[in-house]
Amino acid sequence: SRQERIRNFSIIAHIDHGKSTLADRILEATQALTEREMKAQTLDAMDLERERGITIKLNAVELNYHAPDGETYIFHLIDTPGHVDFSYEVSRSLAACEGALLVVDAAQGVEAQTLANVYLALENDLEIIPVINKIDLPNADPDRVKQEVEDDIGLDASDAVLASAKTGIGTDAIMQQIIDKIPAPKGDPEAPLRALIFDSLYDAYRGVVVYVRIIDGTLRVGDKIKMMATGKEFEVLEVGVSTPKIETRDALSVGDVGFLTASIKSVHETRVGDTVTGAERSAAEPLPGYRRMNPMVYCGLYPIDTARYNDLREALGRLELNDAALQYEPETSEALGFGFRCGFLGLLHMDIVQERLEREFNIDLIATAPSVIYKVVHTDGTTEEVGNPSEMPERKFIESIEEPYVRATIMTPNDYVGAVMELCQRKRGEFQTMEYLDANRTHVIYDLPLSEIMYDFFDSLKSSTKGYASMDYEMHGYKMSDLVKMDILLNAEKVDALSVIVHKEFAYDRGRAIVEKLKELIPRQQFEVPIQAAIGQKVIARSTIKALRKNVLAKCYGGDVSRKRKLLEKQKEGKKRMKAVGSVEVPQEAFMSVFKMS
Ligand code: GTP
Repeated sequence: SRQERIRNFSIIAHIDHGKSTLADRILEATQALTEREMKAQTLDAMDLERERGITIKLNAVELNYHAPDGETYIFHLIDTPGHVDFSYEVSRSLAACEGALLVVDAAQGVEAQTLANVYLALENDLEIIPVINKIDLPNADPDRVKQEVEDDIGLDASDAVLASAKTGIGTDAIMQQIIDKIPAPKGDPEAPLRALIFDSLYDAYRGVVVYVRIIDGTLRVGDKIKMMATGKEFEVLEVGVSTPKIETRDALSVGDVGFLTASIKSVHETRVGDTVTGAERSAAEPLPGYRRMNPMVYCGLYPIDTARYNDLREALGRLELNDAALQYEPETSEALGFGFRCGFLGLLHMDIVQERLEREFNIDLIATAPSVIYKVVHTDGTTEEVGNPSEMPERKFIESIEEPYVRATIMTPNDYVGAVMELCQRKRGEFQTMEYLDANRTHVIYDLPLSEIMYDFFDSLKSSTKGYASMDYEMHGYKMSDLVKMDILLNAEKVDALSVIVHKEFAYDRGRAIVEKLKELIPRQQFEVPIQAAIGQKVIARSTIKALRKNVLAKCYGGDVSRKRKLLEKQKEGKKRMKAVGSVEVPQEAFMSVFKMS
């Protein structure tokens, strides 16, 4: 039957180990595209979609493979997002598969991120096929890397394919192993529909396009469906697959991986991980593993031009259609006026959203320093979650504060274990354990406050290990910490958007660093501006911006009007990214600088 000839799989790999290149080879081997269409990096390419004027991510393709045994197999290749911010989404993409190709660079070997993805694959009971890639490289050492796959990951690597996605060596062997090792889907075609949502995106013409893997039953055009987590019901307008050309079908059945549309207005109604079932003939139980995604990091976003507040609200609304993890609500800052407090999955997610707002909607923004969510226990016993440092209650009302921790697994060559531990220690890390992986490499495991690794931890790790260490982390609950709110005062006025939460022991150093940095960043004004860092009423650090001495226009001898105008225009240009905070002009970077000082 058709179901027996289906193979659903993903490719998991560390960045740059060759995932996209191998995907290209597989597309080629199945002749999914003509040579002319076969551009490099197809799975990543957005151009292809633009040419056709539709927005379908090439994140799941159906390929027909004519195998040497004479059979035609149906391969579904499912793409996974690569970054740690999106590990839940990676996990759901993997749940749509029965197997995974694990691509490891024959020169670089196994890295921490590789391990993290393998664990996600194992949790989802996937059959893993190791592929040692880039064997054409002069410094490739496939035997060593095979051994690493066995020792570090615990997989049998005796059948690992030695491949070069660049030259095409090994592709046929990979195709054969996909057929032989990855099981066909097992679902029941007669059971009520259960389809796993593993991705979705918003398309201006069709509404939300929902990517599903059919686990049980059949999904037909015209069916009434229900989202099990939200209870929302819809009528299916279209189902189909991408080959990677878009092909609509009458139905998708067990094992199929494709899309549906149903006039759905927002991706919030089609959460990743949710189960689609029939509205009339519903499944008793949803598929396991659905988890609501909660933001981990918050920051305030304010338009530099206050007149653009409504544009910002509209832009966030548009982004939200396409981004189920983005949250926002209006907030006001004394310093910055009207804006929004926004919640993100992590810093990468935050950067992406900010960049889209600036680029696609042309809104110049001030972003306040990102903050994690603190759990505050008041003296009266009540608790509160605080994601905005300026809203931290006064100390006398606080019984205790807890902050989120991560458990970080750092893989490093033995020579750098000392450097890694020193870095973790400096970031308030709590040592957990150490595992020797093989003769050369060690796993160092630390619990670290999320707020300490948010900014430059990865960079510091790379620079203190000459780029050799890699790391992965997962959320690991909350712990009580001795934290205080530090306020920043400009010209004796507290600037709420500059408040930060710091560990008490670091407060003095941090305060001094921040006032010095702000002194550098804030241009001289017509008057002297004191900058102070304070905890409660107590000032712990101070610097002063001297007053501007000369009038800039004095240089123009009063005569040359056009020159004068040019100078004024230039000043205006320079001011664009400034925000008047009370009586002081503050540049955009200043708001992030309090965060980057950590
Ligand atoms: P991300 O998309 O960043 O996650 O990377 P990726 O894992 O998809 O890797 P990609 O396929 O983009 O390959 C990374 C680099 O390695 C590219 O410059 C490829 O040309 C190169 N590369 C991939 N496979 C091979 C190979 O077998 N041999 C050699 N020499 N280079 C390869």
